[in-house]
Amino acid sequence: MSKITVNLATNLKEKPKDQSKLGFGQYFTDHMFIMNYDEGQGWHDARIVPYGPLPLDPSAMCLHYGQEVFEGLKAYKTQDGRILMFRPDQNFKRLSMSNERMVIPAFDEEFMVEALIELVKIEKDWIPTAEGTSLYIRPFIIAVDPMLGVHPAHHYLFMIILSPVGSYYAGGLAPVNIYVESNYVRAVKGGLGFAKTAANYAASLKGQAEAELHKYSQVLWLDGIERKYIEEVGAMNIFFVIGDELVTPALNGSILPGITRMSVIEIAKQWGMKVSERRISIDEISAAYDKGELKEVFGSGTAAVISPVGHLKYNDKIMIINNGKIGAVSQKLYDNLTGIQWGKLPDTFGWTVEV
Ligand code: PLP
Ligand code: COI
Repeated sequence: MSKITVNLATNLKEKPKDQSKLGFGQYFTDHMFIMNYDEGQGWHDARIVPYGPLPLDPSAMCLHYGQEVFEGLKAYKTQDGRILMFRPDQNFKRLSMSNERMVIPAFDEEFMVEALIELVKIEKDWIPTAEGTSLYIRPFIIAVDPMLGVHPAHHYLFMIILSPVGSYYAGGLAPVNIYVESNYVRAVKGGLGFAKTAANYAASLKGQAEAELHKYSQVLWLDGIERKYIEEVGAMNIFFVIGDELVTPALNGSILPGITRMSVIEIAKQWGMKVSERRISIDEISAAYDKGELKEVFGSGTAAVISPVGHLKYNDKIMIINNGKIGAVSQKLYDNLTGIQWGKLPDTFGWTVEV
């Protein structure tokens, strides 16, 4: 792999002044990473260049058949001025898995961690420092062959863009409302659900639009075949505290294997909590609620961090979880996870990578 060439921007943008109003994914930094793939040459010309629009042929395959993959991770500035990234190796590992499913050529994961470190170093002044903020990192790969036949492409772009962000949900850590989606499905076994690829998000947009219309944050997806078993939420994995047990749907091929999910499981197990990854039906959750055993529900994700669910609607039934307030397990997980990410707590797992 060649080294990375750097072409610095001459005009730097003005950074957002009010870090309490960053929202999610609205601002982009001064530079981006690009690398080309051409059949016969492999991945080449890794470079950091000024952020800007791409020249893309209107027939570029990604625009027509959705051959693309992406990732999401964050960098944080600690109180003592260090810059930490959370488990970047896992994101590039998952991207490799998505590539394999989407027939996109393999890349060198370790090189990409190095390239990311170099990009984040250049953009270090863009990392916000207000409570709950971070620099969101979006690596992605698109197929760029100017060709309308339906085949895997021979030419790709691998890019990384960066965005200073606040919380994903406008209410921050305030519990969100979700409902069980009964009309549409997000993914099916044998399909793309486990891969982080645009098509899964395209499939979710209709449900998301209807949820927003009814003042819900997102929908809870059920399995695409029996429409019975819980899968995940639009942009996060889902956890339930039933009695004293932490339960989450087992990875089954149609759920995104979340890195936050994996970390939550590892933290809870370290606490000695009973954790179970298994098939779980919506009827089981509804019955646990009736028996008073459903103590907490929360989502996990890079953008969503730990997001408590205060109101869960299933057909005509509304379940108010923990009186609509964040529960003790969710709060403790949020504190522990963000404590490690923001360098406030010792990282005994060795998850953070210093830039
Ligand atoms: N599920 C979906 C559909 C997502 O988009 C995300 C976000 O990346 C997650 C789950 C959580 O994954 P992670 O914890 O790796 O961010
Ligand atoms: C993430 O949490 O990184 C995501 O990709 C979720 C969403 C913004 C698509």
